Formats: sequence, C-alpha cells, structure tokens
Amino acid sequence: MAQQTPMAKSESTSDTVTLVDNATGKRFELPVLGGSEGPRVIDIRSLYGETGMFTYDPGFTSTASCDSQITFIDGDDGILRHRGYPIEDLAENCDFLEVAHMLLFGELPDRATYEKFAHDITYHTMVHEQLLYFYRGFRRDAHPMAIMVGVVGALSAFYHDSTDISDPHQCMVASYRLIAKMPTIAAMAFKYPMGQPFMYPRNDLSYAENFLYMTFAVPAEEYHISPVLARAMERILILHADHEQNASTSTVRLAGSSAANPFACIAAGIASLWGPAHGGANEAVLDMLTEIGSKDQIGEFINRAKDKDDPFRLMGFGHRVYKNYDPRAAVLRKSAHEVLDELGVKDEPLLELALELERIALEDDYFVEKKLFPNVDFYSGIILRAMGFPNSMFTVLFALARTVGWVAQWNEMIQDPTQRIGRPRQLYTGETKRDFVPMDQR
Ligand code: CMC
Repeated sequence: MAQQTPMAKSESTSDTVTLVDNATGKRFELPVLGGSEGPRVIDIRSLYGETGMFTYDPGFTSTASCDSQITFIDGDDGILRHRGYPIEDLAENCDFLEVAHMLLFGELPDRATYEKFAHDITYHTMVHEQLLYFYRGFRRDAHPMAIMVGVVGALSAFYHDSTDISDPHQCMVASYRLIAKMPTIAAMAFKYPMGQPFMYPRNDLSYAENFLYMTFAVPAEEYHISPVLARAMERILILHADHEQNASTSTVRLAGSSAANPFACIAAGIASLWGPAHGGANEAVLDMLTEIGSKDQIGEFINRAKDKDDPFRLMGFGHRVYKNYDPRAAVLRKSAHEVLDELGVKDEPLLELALELERIALEDDYFVEKKLFPNVDFYSGIILRAMGFPNSMFTVLFALARTVGWVAQWNEMIQDPTQRIGRPRQLYTGETKRDFVPMDQR
C-alpha cells in the first residue's frame, strides 16, 4: 500500500524579469519558472533576502503557492484536466475510484490495479464503533457540515496508528481511511438529524452505490439502488474530486505544512469548504432559486446582484479562475436533464428557473463584461435535490468528493523535499510604537 505519488517539479527557464526599485535605482534579476502548461511564474523566493521587500497579493490572485502535477485549469478557455485527462472524458467514462487512483498515484489503473485499490479502499469503509457516540453529542438540528468538521477532526483521536506523517505507510493508510470512511461519515451526518438508525457499509457495492445505500436505506426494508442515481452520484463525485489550489485545498496544504496529522488537515479543508463563497454555494443556489420563486422575479434579483450597495450575489455564478463556462457546470447541466428524466420528474420548476436565470444573466452586459458564468454549484443542487438530498447535505457531498483531491494534494506536499511551513507575510498598517498608558489614565 505504500505507493508514492509522483513528485511535482517546476523547470528553471533561461528567462528572467528585471525589477527596478525606482526609489533607489537598484535593479534585481528574478528567475522565471515554467510548468508544463499555463502561465510562466516569477520566482520571488529570494526577493526579501535581496531587496528587503515583500510582495502584496491578498487573495493570492497572482501567486502560485506550490508546484503540482495533479490538476490543470485554463480559466480563459474553460479547461479542467486531471493528470492530463479532460474532465469531460473522466466524467463520461470512469467511475470514482478510477479517478481517485489517478489523482493519488498519477495514472488510471489497469484492471488488476483497480481491483486491488477498490478492495483496499472498501475494507476501510467501517468507522470505529465508538465514533457513533460522538454523533450523539450533537444536537439533532446541527448542520451536517458542523458534524463533518467535528467528526473528521475526531478521526485523529481514533486512528493513532496512521497519524505519523514521517512514515509513508501510515500516510497512505490515513489517505485510504479518509477516502473510504468519508461516505460512511457523511451518510451518518444525514441520518442523525432525522433520528434514523445508521446503516453499516456494504462492501459488495460500488463507492457511489454504497453511499446511496447508507444514506437512503433503512434496516426495516430492502433498498433498491437505482443504477441511474448511482451513475449520477458517480459523476457528481468525479466532477468535484479536485480543483487545484482552491481555498479548501490551500487550507489543507497550509494546515499540513506544519506537519499536522492528515485527519486534522482534512477537517480544516471541510471548514474552509463550508463557506458560501466556496462549496457552500450549492446550498445557497437552491435557497436563492427558492427565494426568486418565479421567472418574473428574475429581473429584480439580477438587478440586486448588479447593485454595489446590495450584498446579494448571484450564487453559482462567477469564479476566481474561470472566465468562461465552468466545464463542470456544462456536464452537470446536461446531467440534470438526464437525471430528472430518468427519475420521471417532469418540468422541475427550479431547473426551469435556473435555465431562465442563466439565459438572462448571460445576455446581461454586467455578467458579460465581468465574465461571470455558471460554476459547478449552479446545477449540482438541482440534481441532488431530485435524488432526495436536503439542501443542507449538498456541501457535505462536495466535501465527500473533494476528500480525494485534498488527500492527493496533501500527499504531494508532504513528499516534496522542498516543502516548508507555509508562512505568509503581511503589509502592517497598524499603530507604530507608542507609550503604554495605565488604565486609570486612559
Ligand atoms: N454575482 C454578482 N456579481 C459578481 C458575482 C456574482 N455571483 N461574482 C463576482 N461578481 C462581481 C464582483 O462584484 C466584482 O465586481 P467589481 O469588479 O465591480 O467589484 C467582480 O465580479 C469580480 O468578483 P470578485 O469577487 O472580485 O471575484 P473573486 O474571484 O474574488 O470571487 C467568487 C469569486 C466565486 C467568490 C465570486 O464570483 C462569488 O462570490 N460567486 C458566488 C458564490 C459562488 O457561486 N461560489 C462558488 C464558486 S465555484 C465552486 C468552488 O470551487 O467553490
């Protein structure tokens, strides 16, 4: 099991850029690095040592925080590839564990490798029985993402034998455990608020089928797993599996850079994903569509989204990297129709509303000029709702799928010999030194 992930490596080019300090007239040469695709990168690692200056980039809009070989995005052309494979091909042809293997180890598995990998993951699906009591500490009305943050963080207290990150075998066991147990933990977060009994995993089922079974089955009845739903779930998991250095993945890497254990790092990623600007947007899209209510209200909400004095934003629209249609949204848009047709849901009003909202927004000058297109969260909620998930579970599904990406990125980071603790600097704008004033004189 102690396979190593391929090592990321950037290439030095012969290019440099020259920085001129107009205050002193001094010139500094900075090397330029090239990846296999994508923009060239100015290597500023020596900048502070040589110039005494930092760079300033809140939100990291122009800063590469690491080398990575896992995922490539070209936001202008709407391209997303994992290990070189276009996301559309993966979503069409693979199951989730094939993609998981490729993200973790660099290659799509052959049949024998796939079977071994699926077996190894499958045999980690159960959680420690004591973990059941952990759930009972939550209120029944707890948001399932709150449960996820707590329970995944708590795994470090249950699996001590896979928290030593200096041992590659333990790292891989922790990685397999996280990928294998996340569906079980997520399904339990679904069951708990309803007071339904937890369902133990079934190792004869595929990853997606097993998750649907643990979520929707009850012990009193036989549960028939719809192949259409299982395929739709598989596709949703693949589309959310990784997305290079987004907020939650960067959170996982930053937490891991201090050598924190993998369970704690993934819990940190879940916390970051929860926000409505990130993974929480899929829940917010459905809330927004429900609030809009009917097609004749769309104009009013579009106007609100454009109004700088109104904090309202069109949820599921816009992306830091994509300035074109998010390729994942394109797949899900198509999938939404297929799933609703197969489920016999005719004329789902929220899908009709979403399509109309998209049409109007994409013709509006504000959205055109700012290059705001639907993102992955715009259509996923409609599919998940049709499958029977409450809105509060949508982001949990995102976390479940993204776990493999987080784990792959975390492994890549800890195997990188140049890796150091992440420690951004700051532009200090507070008070300069001043005299202390005793309380009775303030
Ligand atoms: N509705 C209205 N205006 C928007 C929207 C939107 N959804 N998104 C961006 N803008 C405007 C924004 O007001 C700004 O205008 P101006 O230049 O006049 O100040 C401009 O477009 C650029 O936006 P930004 O906030 O500077 O861009 P960002 O890269 O910092 O934020 C974002 C990206 C995804 C957080 C943002 O587009 C947003 O809040 N979208 C809605 C939430 C959402 O759907 N999030 C899911 C992201 S995809 C899934 C994931 O990977 O998590």
